[in-house]
Amino acid sequence: MVQVNATRTADQFWAHRGIPSRFPENTLPSFQAAAEGGAKWIETDVDICHDGTLLICHDATLDRTTNASGPCADLRRDDLSQVDAGAWFGPQFKNTPLPVLSEVVDLCLEHGLNLNLELKPTPNGAQAARHLVESAVKELTRFDDPNRVVISSFNPLLLATAQEVAPQFPRGALFEHLALELGWKTICEMVGATAIHPEAAHLTAELVAQFRNEGLEVRPWTVNGSAQANQLFNWGVTAIFTDRADWFIENL
Ligand code: G3P
Ligand code: CA
Repeated sequence: MVQVNATRTADQFWAHRGIPSRFPENTLPSFQAAAEGGAKWIETDVDICHDGTLLICHDATLDRTTNASGPCADLRRDDLSQVDAGAWFGPQFKNTPLPVLSEVVDLCLEHGLNLNLELKPTPNGAQAARHLVESAVKELTRFDDPNRVVISSFNPLLLATAQEVAPQFPRGALFEHLALELGWKTICEMVGATAIHPEAAHLTAELVAQFRNEGLEVRPWTVNGSAQANQLFNWGVTAIFTDRADWFIENL
């Protein structure tokens, strides 16, 4: 394999949940740290609550990353002021709010950040799924250029809905390692994806070449070490998701 030591740029290090190596994941301080660290792209996860609130949270429940518990979907907008999304990470982050999508978009616009929004597979049926896509898209249209946004999901039906509702926003199809073997090409074509976001572990040079041959941008997750990052870039990936975007950018 020929080693390609091409110059890397900051826009190739996508800040996965902000800078969760140093800040509580998926919070405004974490995204702010990404901006201050020179990141051009942040990634975050959105779910919809029963009252329509677009909640920024990776897990299906609040248990791991907040002082509350239970399904994210059960949270009401009025409850948000009581939820602490920082104390679990360290006492200095006590009282960090759990953000909603509009606040993340505000922060992106303020700092010139681009946004990869991952739509979480809401367990509350087709109507909630459509509501999630339509409401999220409404927020995303606040960006001056649709190419400052990428909508991604592990769920092809959410991506297909995004394609129908707002085709102007590029779509990235997410895959866990094993699911890659189950028809990535069909799914990418079905949802009009311009990018594939595969799990980094067990990726191969051959697979990356196949993705690139299909004209897809390739952005593996989640890559935190420089040896793995270099290998992936040498295989031809176009960007990586990392918990340490600030560190990678500082060391460019
Ligand atoms: O978008 C890449 C990555 O966020 C997908 O996995 O579990 O961290 O949301 P996860
Ligand atoms: Ca995610």
